[in-house]
Amino acid sequence: MLEKSGEPGSLAEWYSKYLGKKGILRTLTSDVSDLAVEEKKELGRKVNELKSYLEEAYAGILNSVTSIKKDKPLENFYKTLPGKKPEIGHLHLITQAIREINEVFSKLGFIRVRYPEVEWDYYSFEALNMPKTHPARDEWETFFIDLPEDPKLGKVVITPHTSNGQIREMLKGDLPIRMLNISRCGRRQSDINHVPTFYQFEGLVIDKNISITHLKGVLEYLIYNFFGKDTKFRLRPYDFRFTEPSFEVDVTCGICGGKGCRFCKEGWVELGGAGMVHPNVLRAGGIDPDVYSGFAFGWGVERVLMMRTGLKIDDIRYLFENNLKFLEQF
Ligand code: DAH
Repeated sequence: MLEKSGEPGSLAEWYSKYLGKKGILRTLTSDVSDLAVEEKKELGRKVNELKSYLEEAYAGILNSVTSIKKDKPLENFYKTLPGKKPEIGHLHLITQAIREINEVFSKLGFIRVRYPEVEWDYYSFEALNMPKTHPARDEWETFFIDLPEDPKLGKVVITPHTSNGQIREMLKGDLPIRMLNISRCGRRQSDINHVPTFYQFEGLVIDKNISITHLKGVLEYLIYNFFGKDTKFRLRPYDFRFTEPSFEVDVTCGICGGKGCRFCKEGWVELGGAGMVHPNVLRAGGIDPDVYSGFAFGWGVERVLMMRTGLKIDDIRYLFENNLKFLEQF
């Protein structure tokens, strides 16, 4: 009976019905005038026994509910109702992608580093062979921080790409280099393909006799490992100031399989740039371009993630909206 009294409110009712001041146990001993002394004693003993038995059982049930205070009878306790399970979260999709990209490159001997995300103009542009008149250095693309300019290093910016890491890595003076710099970047942009803050991963390899074949081999390794062998890629000649020759790297769109959709339009999606490190950049990093050569690439983490077949994320902004209905799917 007590066990069944797990219905809301009924445990308290049970208590007052049997053990309360006007409870059944009290009434059992309230009118005993007809009984002989021995019978009274016997009844008293039995009632006491029953009382301790019931009180013990009641206390047992009370103890199973930690929040209940002894002096407060239990209310609204439904003991067969399942407890609330704690919600188990998981890593954000972008963090998962960063870890996976890092894992692929670590197999090739790349070492993950991080460099400042609030950076001097010098490392973001100047030392990367970008002329003062380059459009990326203008207000329209780059976030400038309202801090005093340094006479040598220039203005403070939110780094618009991870290429600042190239110079900082070279200046450490350890050769050869196999660097993977994954960081947050900022640019003044927003549409289905762009967000003002996003992640890039920058690779830099510098050694003797490094050529384009090494670059192509590394990119192919990433693409086949991350997207699978059905994804095609192409290098398109491009112009970056810090590499010569330079390329943009496209893959067949993972959303439509290369047929053309609202995201890619013509079936190919640009993942980022790559090229052979420009001699001026090597010099700015304190490296002799007659002895060493290298390649570099800088790609968007979110773009790479979106191109993974099966995900079908066709607007980069979903990744930053913190909508649990979206995030919980991955
Ligand atoms: N920093 C360039 C961007 O954000 C991408 C890039 C191009 C990085 C060529 C490189 C490179 O390392 O070699 O658009």
